[in-house]
Amino acid sequence: MMSRQHKPFPADFLWGASTSAYQCEGASDIDGKGPSVQDVKEPFPGTPDFKVASDQYHHYKEDIALMAEMGFKVYRFSVSWSRVIPTGDGPINQKGLDYYSDLVDECLKYGIQPLVTMYHFDLPQALAEKGGWGRRECADAFIRFAKVLFENLGSRVKYWLTINEQNMLTLVGPLIGTFNAEGVKNIQKELYQQNHYMMLAQAQVMALCHEMVPGGKIGPAPNISAVYPASCLPEDVKAAELFSAIRNWFYLDMAVYGVYNHQVWSFLEMQDALPEIAEGDMEILASGHPDFIAFNYYNTGTVARDESTEMPDPGSFDQQRIASFPGLYRGVKNGNLPTTQWGWEIDPIGFRNTLNQVYSRYRLPIIITENGLGAKDKVEADGSVQDDYRIEYLQRHIEQMQLAIDDGVEMLGYCPWSAIDLISTHEGFEKRYGFIYVNRDNFDLKDLRRIRKKSFFWYKKVIATNGADLSN
Ligand code: BG6
Repeated sequence: MMSRQHKPFPADFLWGASTSAYQCEGASDIDGKGPSVQDVKEPFPGTPDFKVASDQYHHYKEDIALMAEMGFKVYRFSVSWSRVIPTGDGPINQKGLDYYSDLVDECLKYGIQPLVTMYHFDLPQALAEKGGWGRRECADAFIRFAKVLFENLGSRVKYWLTINEQNMLTLVGPLIGTFNAEGVKNIQKELYQQNHYMMLAQAQVMALCHEMVPGGKIGPAPNISAVYPASCLPEDVKAAELFSAIRNWFYLDMAVYGVYNHQVWSFLEMQDALPEIAEGDMEILASGHPDFIAFNYYNTGTVARDESTEMPDPGSFDQQRIASFPGLYRGVKNGNLPTTQWGWEIDPIGFRNTLNQVYSRYRLPIIITENGLGAKDKVEADGSVQDDYRIEYLQRHIEQMQLAIDDGVEMLGYCPWSAIDLISTHEGFEKRYGFIYVNRDNFDLKDLRRIRKKSFFWYKKVIATNGADLSN
């Protein structure tokens, strides 16, 4: 068996963690904030609304101090568009801007780099009512919003992310609550038209960042997973390759090279779902260049060929479609992998595979903006939270990230999900991800006290040793 010396994590490696505005801030109708699509949507059964969430709006000083205690070098948070511009395209809400300015200052006070996501699933409701991302004007409003952020925070914020999980917004927008399918005749076409406008917005915002932010670095933040074939049968391998293009490469090929992935283009053509492209759009798309690739990683996917001859209604939305398309590919369970309490497959080696695939294709440094274990944590009688399962999950993923560095992947940083407990997209407060426990339940707000979990102390040591000591 060959063994080799690990390459160390880079000296300036950005260790930290992530959150998003609507899932943790609360204060959803305070200080002039306008409603977002998340504020007005019907919460998933058994889960709370986003009015209070983790109340970071009122606890940010305490939260950042705890992150500083863990030794964070970076904190990835998102800006709520409708807190800064309540209608999305109207007047600016100074109080909203002040909040983010203070949050940035608080991070910098401890030497924590803010990594700012501009848009994380929370489109201003007023824009949604005008047709949301289905209209080109939404892209213009986003570009203006980005300008406002660069003008006001650009001298202090060096790292920016455009759109969180644009691929999930496109593949499963109706499930995330960001897409209202009511009255839409061809849902697929509409989703890919929205995607086109998001891509146009992203390209222009990336260019703008380079113009307006001295030393500014910006990248996309999709959710990327290696896709395995269910067997080595060439038909299964082909199915996996196609699904990976649809799920992953379509978004990154556009962000990095400004081109539509050829296989996905033809897949859309087959479904009458091609977006309309105006003159000049392709030039715009080619004009934005990311400085790095950020991506969220939770698990891998596995697909087999699908030989059904019946094509689904091309204009409809079916949530199974995220990993299955009759006649082309079908998502299957990977029996080799353990799962979380919510059935998500756990695949640390798949993380290394995914990192290598992304780096091979795009040759840009990578920052992981989400990775983590959602679990039902429990506060013990002595007040502690013994989340050894989370430590184990993170240990195994960090080990594989280290191996990816050995492979030659250029890594910028690692921001697991999530810095503090927050409202999960579908399971409310039942499913926690944080290093910091927030003392509330789905419907009992209790005292919102912050409790350091066991993983808090473990991660502190990981950061202090720059990833050299991962032991529990
Ligand atoms: C990512 C999202 O897809 O997954 C986060 O960017 C989300 O917003 C995270 O919370 C975990 O998913 P869930 O459904 O467990 O909250």
